[in-house]
Amino acid sequence: MNTRGEIGEFSQIFNGLMDLMRRFIFRVLRAGSIPNHISFIMDGNRRFAKRHNLKGLDAGHRAGFISVTCVLQYCKEIGVPYVTLYAFGFDNFKREPEEVKCLMDLMLEKVELTIDQAISGNLKGVRVIFAGDLNSLNERFRAAAQRLMEITEENRGLMIVVCVAYCTSHEIVHAVRESCVRKCDDGDGNVVLELSEIEEYMYTSAVPDPDLVIRTGGGDRLSNFMTWQTSKSLLHTTAALWPELGLWHLVWAILKFQRLQGYLQKKQKLD
Ligand code: FPP
Ligand code: MG
Repeated sequence: MNTRGEIGEFSQIFNGLMDLMRRFIFRVLRAGSIPNHISFIMDGNRRFAKRHNLKGLDAGHRAGFISVTCVLQYCKEIGVPYVTLYAFGFDNFKREPEEVKCLMDLMLEKVELTIDQAISGNLKGVRVIFAGDLNSLNERFRAAAQRLMEITEENRGLMIVVCVAYCTSHEIVHAVRESCVRKCDDGDGNVVLELSEIEEYMYTSAVPDPDLVIRTGGGDRLSNFMTWQTSKSLLHTTAALWPELGLWHLVWAILKFQRLQGYLQKKQKLD
């Protein structure tokens, strides 16, 4: 066998061992409680590109998408039912127009790719939802997002919420406006809103509140991301840049969640 053949065989054995080890770790993890909903604030893509001398405005975000696919696969294997991704905050529209276009093009490319995967049956039960002010996005992206939501609608496995053109302040304004319009349409002139009515019109109403929020890139802020829904969530931050987030970071965050479970439950009862 030549050297290339030997390397190929060695990497096959290595990947097989890594798979086995991962499955074993996840089984151990499942002996404790698993967060019902994990939210990810994906930060640090551009720093990653700079650090690794990657060329192109979307290079860091492309590397970030590889992390997205790995993290989603891990969550699926661990058995997390709901995952939310902060893919594009409303404030991100303030970036250079070229970068905004690059990011939008990249997301469109990935959404269209995911549509193809869904059609060929490769999504295996995954449901995808887009949350945010979708009207502020271009027609082609809106149509692709709508299509992906429709074709995965019946899936009952992992539910992924992709937050695009999202921020909680807009989400609340949207929900209050919609609730008022609905009440006025019902002919009730005296509009008194209930909390449950507002919550019904939140962009992220399809998912329960997150149990665990993981933020990469060294920041300790929520950056207007699900601030309404995370008052009782555990916030885990890591200095790892989003494209660097790996298996161990996720396992570590879940172990921390398990370790603080008692404390979190006690707090939730008291609030
Ligand atoms: C923050 O890093 C990251 C973003 C604004 C974009 C995240 C998007 C992806 C990873 C692609 C996801 C696509 C889909 C369809 C889910 P940053 O740009 O703020 O980097 P920095 O903090 O280093 O400046
Ligand atoms: Mg950033």
